[in-house]
Amino acid sequence: MPPNLPSLQPISAFPELAAAPLKVERGADLRALNTFGIMARARAYVQIHALQHLIELRQLLAQDAELAALPRLVIGGGSNLLLLGDVHGLVVHMCAEGMQNAGEDSDYRYLRAAAGSNWHALVEWSLQQGAPGLENLALIPGTVGAAPIQNIGAYGVELKQVLHSVTVYDWNSGEVVVLDNADCAFGYRDSVFKHVWRERGLVLELCLACPKDWRAQTGYGDLAAELAQAGIDAPNAQQVAAAVCAIRRRKLPDPAKLGNAGSFFKNPVVTRAQRTALQTVWPDLVSYLQSDGKYKLAAGWLIDRAGWKGRRMGAAGVHEHQALVLVNHGGASGAEIAALAAAIQTDIQGKFGVKLEMEPVTAGG
Ligand code: EPU
Repeated sequence: MPPNLPSLQPISAFPELAAAPLKVERGADLRALNTFGIMARARAYVQIHALQHLIELRQLLAQDAELAALPRLVIGGGSNLLLLGDVHGLVVHMCAEGMQNAGEDSDYRYLRAAAGSNWHALVEWSLQQGAPGLENLALIPGTVGAAPIQNIGAYGVELKQVLHSVTVYDWNSGEVVVLDNADCAFGYRDSVFKHVWRERGLVLELCLACPKDWRAQTGYGDLAAELAQAGIDAPNAQQVAAAVCAIRRRKLPDPAKLGNAGSFFKNPVVTRAQRTALQTVWPDLVSYLQSDGKYKLAAGWLIDRAGWKGRRMGAAGVHEHQALVLVNHGGASGAEIAALAAAIQTDIQGKFGVKLEMEPVTAGG
């Protein structure tokens, strides 16, 4: 976490007003709104293009008991979502886009981005602005608003290391609230938005703190190897971003071509004793020491070693280059993906005694 961040001017990248009034759509098709490409419909669906839309929605819910009784599902790019069937609820689609420079001090340059902005577009824009810090997180699918929910991370950097604050809309009070980095209680693929703010807060925008004393973070094995192979010794931020993009394009399927939601499971954390026991049977086990003395295991390695890489169950499959990624080969239902996931979980529990936890959020069905 960036230390001693100052308070910032309350300017906003999230638009105040929208061109058209809020529209509630019944039975909306969600297929293009989830990167697994699963066919499902929403009982009710609204697009939020500005703060005004949230205020209108809150007023509408106060008058419409049927709509108010529906569970709400907030979505951005739908890149960390598994739809198990139709959503018998109200889908709130955060579409508001915008990015802006939010000033600087002696240590940081601050950038703001509205929830519906594409995450990778923000990374590219930050580099064009001469504000490095987000480059290791290049090409992560999804929107800006989804990034803090699971504290996105890749190639040695997590969002929490470059985040100043998150502005949220509080459904309970109808107020706009700013949560500082520390308030977000970030952990590995975890934050306060999965817990106390889960039903309550909608992410409106992020403020990022890009360090002026920037240093390339190239410790992650794959990234170091990619840069070494390109003969780059002291990379600039653009070169780091390019290397990250090259690795991702090689290993991870493009959701536009093959439906997926990135890593399907979290990397499980085990005790030192469990890791030692596993290593005696599997000497090439991939594990990383954590600050609390426990070990994170590479779930992709476990699934690969258990023989699942490239396997299919119906139209659901395990990606051929990254066993941690489940894919939709075409027309898979959410239930088919979930059945494959359950079979993998049972097998990994049996072979390694390790419980795999799903990373994407599930809804519907
Ligand atoms: N591995 C295998 N076989 C596989 C996949 C991986 O043996 O099929 C081994 C690799 O050789 C490597 C280790 O497992 O030694 C780790 O693999 P990788 O570097 O690909 O990373 P990961 O732990 O599988 C995590 C994140 C990714 C992120 C990468 C890079 C999680 C759940 N996933 O994957 O995040 O891009 O590290 O930092 O933490 C995501 O969350 O959606 C995501 C893609």
